[in-house]
Amino acid sequence: MRLDYLSNHPGRVPALAAWHHAEWGHLYSGWTLEVATAELQDHATRRTLPTTLVLLDGDTLLGSVSVVHEDAAELKDRGSPWLASLYVDEDARGQGLGQALVEAAVELAALNGVERLFLFTPEHAAFYEQLGWEAVESTQLNGTAVTVMAIVPRSRAQ
Ligand SMILES: CC(C)(COP(=O)(O)OP(=O)(O)OC[C@H]1O[C@@H](n2cnc3c(N)ncnc32)[C@H](O)[C@@H]1OP(=O)(O)O)[C@@H](O)C(=O)NCCC(=O)NCCS
Repeated sequence: MRLDYLSNHPGRVPALAAWHHAEWGHLYSGWTLEVATAELQDHATRRTLPTTLVLLDGDTLLGSVSVVHEDAAELKDRGSPWLASLYVDEDARGQGLGQALVEAAVELAALNGVERLFLFTPEHAAFYEQLGWEAVESTQLNGTAVTVMAIVPRSRAQ
């Protein structure tokens, strides 16, 4: 199993975009499959922010995570950047892959000099708290209750 930049696997963009859009399309007005695809195609051009990491087992795509400058426009005044689009294939959940992706995103943020990394989550605040994230606000996003969370990224190499 390996974590890698999406830039090394641009052919995975359509599959990832389909996962992401099915999961989160309802949260963002105007965020069509085409927009989701274009964002990931852009991420696949770089290893600095905004970018996306993928988790692969051989040829099988298992998940992804992104670190972006802005996730939801309504929350942009809270800070930046944001861990976004954490996703693990349904059949591969509950094996620590989500945790590995979150840790890789935090490491990526540390390597890019990020002082504070944010995220928002409708239902997984307890999952992120286990991984060292702190809840900083409860709010609403397009009628959905979300928790805004933050972490000070520290590289495991430091
Ligand atoms: C959320 C998601 C990424 C978790 O992926 P996963 O690979 O199942 O997570 P892990 O196996 O790494 O979980 C790590 C630990 O957190 C626990 N955990 C997982 N979800 C949790 C939750 N909602 N609340 C509390 N603990 C949770 C697991 O039981 C595991 O505990 P353990 O280490 O004691 O066994 C996955 O369910 C997913 O892709 N969901 C759909 C997209 C989504 O909701 N993304 C998050 C958006 S904020």
